[in-house]
Amino acid sequence: MNESTLWHPVAASASIVADVPLPVRLLSQDFALWRDASGTARAFPDRCPHRGTRLSLGRVLHGEAGSRLECPYHGWQFDATGQCRHIPALPAFTPPATHAVCTHEIQERHGLVWLRLQAADTTLPAFDAEVDPRLRKLLCGPYEVQSSAPRIVENFLDLAHFGFVHDGWLGDRGHATLADYRIEATPQGFIAHGCTAWQPQSNRLSTQGSEVEYRYELTGPYSAQLTKVPQAQAGYQDVIGLFVCPVDPERSRVWFRLAVTDFDSDDAQLRAFQDTIFQQDQPVLESQSPKRLPLSLGPGHGGEVHCAADRSSAAYRRFLTDRGITFGVC
Ligand code: FES
Ligand code: CO
Repeated sequence: MNESTLWHPVAASASIVADVPLPVRLLSQDFALWRDASGTARAFPDRCPHRGTRLSLGRVLHGEAGSRLECPYHGWQFDATGQCRHIPALPAFTPPATHAVCTHEIQERHGLVWLRLQAADTTLPAFDAEVDPRLRKLLCGPYEVQSSAPRIVENFLDLAHFGFVHDGWLGDRGHATLADYRIEATPQGFIAHGCTAWQPQSNRLSTQGSEVEYRYELTGPYSAQLTKVPQAQAGYQDVIGLFVCPVDPERSRVWFRLAVTDFDSDDAQLRAFQDTIFQQDQPVLESQSPKRLPLSLGPGHGGEVHCAADRSSAAYRRFLTDRGITFGVC
């Protein structure tokens, strides 16, 4: 599988504001995002075809002829299709078709802007909770991480670190034993059933710790979600989506999409909690060596050693191997 044929999140929708292009980076390439007057997001390569200047340093103009992105260097104007329509130094000149930038496929979903660099029949990673009206949606991030996207996904799927990295928050080092769980393959990845963890506060109304059951699902090479399996009496079903942008092989941007039952806390409170949890993960993630995820097994192959609690991560590495993923792995 070529990573260019996948949809990748590159920015929060709310971060493309009127008249100011936004620079983003995906798969080691730079793009300028902007919005036309109709509100439609556009993605150009972040490089003017005239003299190679970054278009994201320019500005967005809205006029009778439509919206245009203006290069900061000589003011060439590109319309929403990428065609240059105006060269200020030669106002009477009609720029030919060669004076254009290519445009990239773009869509907005789950509070994020998604790009696909190469046409294909791929779909966005599933996040069905988005359309559940009983759940409140909130985007957390971006978190800029000096590590590969696969290391971040693997960390998200990993339960055995809760009692150590998130001691007192998501786990307890005195309750580190993991129950056995099983992996079920799906067309887009796999589901890990029967994962349980000891949570110091299992939901926002509880006052003591208990075992909580989670369902983890890999929804694509760089995305996953976890569902808190409802407890009979409480009916809680919080879902958290993980969406990672593979910026460079060893650099990533991370968002969490919350779809939760908590309608009482304000946005800042919910974000502060996710920020705290991720700030606990980040130094551990950035310390891992190599930063790319080793797909080969065993120490003799430059790989890493596993135990039975790592079933999810072994399944993830097999999945990446089977799909031929090369970006962010070694
Ligand atoms: Fe963009 Fe000259 S470099 S207009
Ligand atoms: Co963690």
